[in-house]
Amino acid sequence: MSKFLDLIQKQRETSKYEKFNGTFLEYLTVVKENPEIIRLAHKRLYETIKEFGMETVDVDSEKYRDIFNGDKIRKYEYFEKEFFGMESVINKLMRFLKSAAHKGEESRQVLLLMGPVGAGKSALVEAVKKSLEHAAPYYYLDGCPIREEPLHLLPRSLRKDFEDILGVHIEGDLCPVCRHRLMNEFDGKYENFPVTQSTFSQRGRRGIAVVPPMDANSQDVSVLIGTEDISKLDLYPEDDPRVLSLNGAFNVGNRGIVEFVEVFKNEIEFLHTMLTATQEKRVPSPGKNDMIYFDGVILSHCNESEWNRFKSEHTNEAILDRVLKIEVPYVLELDQEMKIYEKVIKRSDFNKAHIAPHALEIASMFSVMSRLKPSNKCDVLTKMKIYNGEAIIEKGRVRKVDIKDLKDEAKHEGMEGISTRFIMKALDAALSDSDKNMITPINVIDSLTRQVKEQIVDEEAKNRYIEILGKVIREEYLKILENEIAKAFITAYEEQAQSLFDSYLDNAEAYTTKNKFKDKITREERSPDEKFMKSIEEMIGVVGSARDGFRSDVTAFMFSKMRKGETVNYKSYGPLKEAVEGYLITSVKDISRIVTKSKSRDDDQKKKYSEMLETLIEEYGYNENSAEEILTYAANNLWRDS
Ligand SMILES: Nc1ncnc2c1ncn2[C@@H]1O[C@H](COP(=O)(O)OP(=O)(O)O)[C@@H](O)[C@H]1O
Ligand SMILES: [Mg+2]
Repeated sequence: MSKFLDLIQKQRETSKYEKFNGTFLEYLTVVKENPEIIRLAHKRLYETIKEFGMETVDVDSEKYRDIFNGDKIRKYEYFEKEFFGMESVINKLMRFLKSAAHKGEESRQVLLLMGPVGAGKSALVEAVKKSLEHAAPYYYLDGCPIREEPLHLLPRSLRKDFEDILGVHIEGDLCPVCRHRLMNEFDGKYENFPVTQSTFSQRGRRGIAVVPPMDANSQDVSVLIGTEDISKLDLYPEDDPRVLSLNGAFNVGNRGIVEFVEVFKNEIEFLHTMLTATQEKRVPSPGKNDMIYFDGVILSHCNESEWNRFKSEHTNEAILDRVLKIEVPYVLELDQEMKIYEKVIKRSDFNKAHIAPHALEIASMFSVMSRLKPSNKCDVLTKMKIYNGEAIIEKGRVRKVDIKDLKDEAKHEGMEGISTRFIMKALDAALSDSDKNMITPINVIDSLTRQVKEQIVDEEAKNRYIEILGKVIREEYLKILENEIAKAFITAYEEQAQSLFDSYLDNAEAYTTKNKFKDKITREERSPDEKFMKSIEEMIGVVGSARDGFRSDVTAFMFSKMRKGETVNYKSYGPLKEAVEGYLITSVKDISRIVTKSKSRDDDQKKKYSEMLETLIEEYGYNENSAEEILTYAANNLWRDS
């Protein structure tokens, strides 16, 4: 019990700030001392996010230059842990806020995030709104329904003088409610008007407002601008501000943010209020009162078809003119796409399930490839890897395909394809269908395939997706799997690897020094075994005239190590280690036999099998169930003919 109380009290302590309560006159002193507290909504939002930390990315580093097309990119700490592969979108958003903060044309525009479903638009807007809850408390006229800036009290005729004294710019007029109070309660003596402070809170409806899309019938402009309180209409004259109930979105979101969810689903009349709010920075008041000054950031989002429909009607031109559109495409980088699911899984009930290696990678491969446009320059898998910044090795050489060329060729890429939600649903289904509480590449592929068959209506897309899953991804996964199992096996073959290494070294040395060497077992003099050396060297593409050099390099390297008293084993020289492992993987027929023929394993093979299993579990991140599943899968799909 006392623990709870502790927690509650601690929270109260930390969330408490010393709320200013004073007169307007006292407030003027505060402003004089800290003129920077006077900032309009766009500036406050921009600075609040920026204060979390900002870093300019070195776009000269090869990887970034390609991905961002040479553009200067800033990383904003605030978004770092939540958003992946969205740097470009976030930079555009922040650039918008920055220009608006400097009162550029942007401060009179609606920001529109446009993109396909599940691209992260809502999540991004949510994060932007949330940031304000970390902003420093702001001052407002006590009792004001729209929490307006106290400086609005200053009469026009005095503003210039006060601007000079205070070193600030004053914008906006007193709202009808405060004006009425000023006249009637304070007898026009604005210096006595009380001033206080508030923080931002979406749930508390302080400075953050959301307008959900509404159909024509339920649409009522009072959602935006408030109403007249009918119960008070009997008490006061019609134009008396005391009848006003200023609880519309523009009232609530004043000084902060008003969000329009799926903005173009609303009727056009509705949107005109939004237009006035941006263009004139004023919104109508209910009843017969004056327009009310509005200072806030208007954020909205929609999908592409809504945008296209809206854009095609020329009667909407006035609104379009006020919209700054930022496209929010899907992520096209595999590594970033994977991070989305890692994040989502960490936060869900999934976090107790076992996620086998490559499961999320396979799912992400599918969503990314589904979004890529075909290229003449390479196949879709290669394109995915290039976008991911991977070097493409072909016939022992790095293949040079420029990301920029690929991007130029595929304008508008990332605006369609498989959505993040589709993937999450498939992961969900894979998990609920698994009786072992796990997600593996194999059940992910199954689940995705099932879902494509059930849910994708467009025949052409459906076939393309099934081909990606059934062929491209399946083959790529088998390659990954083969490699992984072989590597895990090698740890069970250390002895063989070491003896291969030793005998290669003996041979190479004898070859280089043009000598014979003594066989370790038979003690006989032997000439270097050319065939054996070649078969090792082939593994890493050392052929023809390159052999001599390689052999003498290896020999020299090893001798210099030994001379320094360092121990030498098969891992000592990178290229040779790779060659030896490659040789083992292809030559040891055991691997396939051990994996496939569980019944006929002899004792030695049993031992090797269990060592390999241990490596898969301890070093690669499988558990017993998933290791068993992938090994069975490998047995059925790889090495079948041996
Ligand atoms: N690039 C991304 N980085 C991080 N999370 C993302 C990204 N794209 C999508 N998501 C996640 O996917 C889910 C769906 O996104 P959402 O914001 O609802 O999409 P939208 O509003 O564009 O339809 C959210 O949980 C969101 O966090
Ligand atoms: Mg959304």
